[in-house]
Amino acid sequence: MLITIRPAVRLSVRTLMLSASLIAGGIAAPLSARETARPGSAGAPVAAPVETPAGPTPAVWGDRPEMRSFVDRLMAQMTLAEKIGQLTLLTSDWVSTGPTLRAGYKEDIAAGKVGAIFNAHSVAYTRELQKLAVEGTRLKIPLLFGYDVIHGHRTMFPISLGEAASWDLEAIEKSARISAIEGAAEGLHWTYAPMVDISRDPRWGRVSEGAGEDTYLGSRIAEARVKGFQGKRIGDTDSLLATVKHFAAYGAPQAGRDYSTVDMSMRELREVYLPPYKAAVDAGAATVMTSFNELDGVPASGSSFLLTDVLRKEWGFKGFVVTDYTSINEMIPHGFSKDEKQAGEQAINAGVDMDMQGAVYLNHLAKSVAEGKVSQQTIDDAVRRVLEMKYRLGLFQDPYRFSDAKREKANVMTPAFLEAARDVARKSMVLLKNQNDVLPLAASAKRIALIGPLADSKADMIGSWAGQGSRTRPISLLEGIRARAAKGVTVNYAKGASYQFADAGKTDGFAEAMAAAKDADVIVAAMGEYWDMTGEAASRTDLNLPGNQEALLKELKTLGKPIVLVLLSGRPNTIPWAADNVDAILEAWYPGTMAGTAVADVLFGDYNPSGKLPMTFPRSVGQVPIFYSMKNTGRPYTAEKQGQKYLSRYLDSSNSPQWPFGHGLSYTRFTYSTVTIDKTVIRPGEALTATVTLTNSGKRAGTEIVQLYTRDLVGSVTRPVKELKGFQKIALKPGESRRVTFRVSDKDLAFYRQDMSWGAEPGEFELFVGGTSDLPVGVKFSLAE
Ligand code: BGC
Repeated sequence: MLITIRPAVRLSVRTLMLSASLIAGGIAAPLSARETARPGSAGAPVAAPVETPAGPTPAVWGDRPEMRSFVDRLMAQMTLAEKIGQLTLLTSDWVSTGPTLRAGYKEDIAAGKVGAIFNAHSVAYTRELQKLAVEGTRLKIPLLFGYDVIHGHRTMFPISLGEAASWDLEAIEKSARISAIEGAAEGLHWTYAPMVDISRDPRWGRVSEGAGEDTYLGSRIAEARVKGFQGKRIGDTDSLLATVKHFAAYGAPQAGRDYSTVDMSMRELREVYLPPYKAAVDAGAATVMTSFNELDGVPASGSSFLLTDVLRKEWGFKGFVVTDYTSINEMIPHGFSKDEKQAGEQAINAGVDMDMQGAVYLNHLAKSVAEGKVSQQTIDDAVRRVLEMKYRLGLFQDPYRFSDAKREKANVMTPAFLEAARDVARKSMVLLKNQNDVLPLAASAKRIALIGPLADSKADMIGSWAGQGSRTRPISLLEGIRARAAKGVTVNYAKGASYQFADAGKTDGFAEAMAAAKDADVIVAAMGEYWDMTGEAASRTDLNLPGNQEALLKELKTLGKPIVLVLLSGRPNTIPWAADNVDAILEAWYPGTMAGTAVADVLFGDYNPSGKLPMTFPRSVGQVPIFYSMKNTGRPYTAEKQGQKYLSRYLDSSNSPQWPFGHGLSYTRFTYSTVTIDKTVIRPGEALTATVTLTNSGKRAGTEIVQLYTRDLVGSVTRPVKELKGFQKIALKPGESRRVTFRVSDKDLAFYRQDMSWGAEPGEFELFVGGTSDLPVGVKFSLAE
């Protein structure tokens, strides 16, 4: 028997469960035919319907044979207004992550105008809002709760760029897993992560949220994060739906200014920028978020090329697409839409299912359907995708299943989570320089001067997009170092300097800092950026240490004592003076809740640093964009041609970066044997094995990230001077050696050829193995026809 839910009937959750199961097991409604085709793009009123390739549903989504008929039944009862409600996502007023255009979300929920809410969490509040939806609306369709759980929810892990520096896929997956457990325990269903935007421009503040400059590393990390967030199965109450964002190419804004125009060749887009999104989709990401930028003149939220042709037709994505915050509305200032109504039509017809915070669908879509500008089928396809995700989450069975007070209590900031956060933080740190082995701190260093605006800061330690991470809970460097310092070691702290732009010329704290440092055996300077100087809307034109920090470093240098700079920031900074003048530099990013403990672990040598840069550090902003996989050009500036004119070079700077992608030192020394390959020629379908012997020739146990790069010497289009194709993390005891092998097949050599077909081309290649991307000598092999 089919239960029809009528407006006047108020059903309890139990009844809802009953009706849901009856509907699920009941009569299948006839599927509505594709009466009207889905318009393909703005200006093209009618185009072919979206045919998603019939590939398998990602295993993590679970097999739900009865779901289709359940959703059919439900949709058969929905009015157009109720359907549009399911495509509407509004923020609560708890947190603001963008401009607020619409208030009154509770009334909207009760009126059935909203399908999902973000920036609301906690068991109590999600229950309160869910109740409005399931008890106050005619069809009692539960809400979906989303939130930016990016690098932790309450237990904060290092910022995403920092985690990427660990190159540790297991640790990164675990960090996402724990974040999901914490978030899901507070009533959340959905995170707006992972952010997988490749970026080669450190001026852009959002580099802190991604995995850096490299497509291969970024793709592997994207998969790990999706797996971590979504866990074993969507619907488990310790999992969150993942959102791969921001689709697409948001990380390449002109001049590094956030939200700015993106324009690149199709080859660059497909080869460099799209693969991490694809990797996340293939790993089962349930949702995709559009980006703010335009691409080739079309804003992403109105791009049927991106959202339909690539995402659905080529990649077979079956989840739903959400916009970024008011990005449909923003198609008006972009100059792509004349008004909101047209913007909404362009967005839904391009393939946007859910409108985040713009209320454009809510206000205009019904009219667009009435006018025939948007087909009923297009609305139904989008609604189905949203309802199916709610079904998979089990919300029709129990809308409150993620909001469980016991789980909320038990699953937040547990000792095991904090320990995991400490572990990832240590793994993420990159030892950029260590002259005369000044690190780890010697036992003889009895007086440590800890100086700088980040030395006693808690708030900065968790960086931006820090979810519900407390800014008073993190362990500061001062606390961590004092707690670890042996008896008899004094730690003299002085703030000394400021990281605020406005304080650039000031010197008022210098005297205090000099007094704290004058009798020290070693100076540890904790400097970098204020936490909000990276993240969204945080682009810079100057990447130096802000404020008067460098000036203080110069003062401290006059004391003639060893200086260790602990750099805390969310992007590669330009620090040429420090690079030349301080003894050691440890890039610690924003390490998270356990910051001070993790930094102390590394400074005192309890943990031997193993991180490698996921992004090149330029010498100056003038070199940007600078990345390891650049092209050679027709006039490369090589060592043999030093000083010559008419070559691709700067007059006032070296071409080389301060530190390249893949760079990172250890307290021990790793030596690499010459690379050998078992075949010098491979044929299509074959692979060669490259072998290197890695030896820990130092005195401490350590971990090395062994990297494999290739170069295609001649192609139908020019190829980068190096491309990362694999890496392995190898732990070795002092004196220990290990043979490390990599398999390289023709698939690893594929690219978009001149005719834009994908595949390798026969010819000569070079292969490089080492502990950085800056490897001058490779071994040659060839791919035969
Ligand atoms: C950001 C997204 C984020 C969204 C919701 C936007 O401003 O670009 O990354 O997920 O806000 O908070």
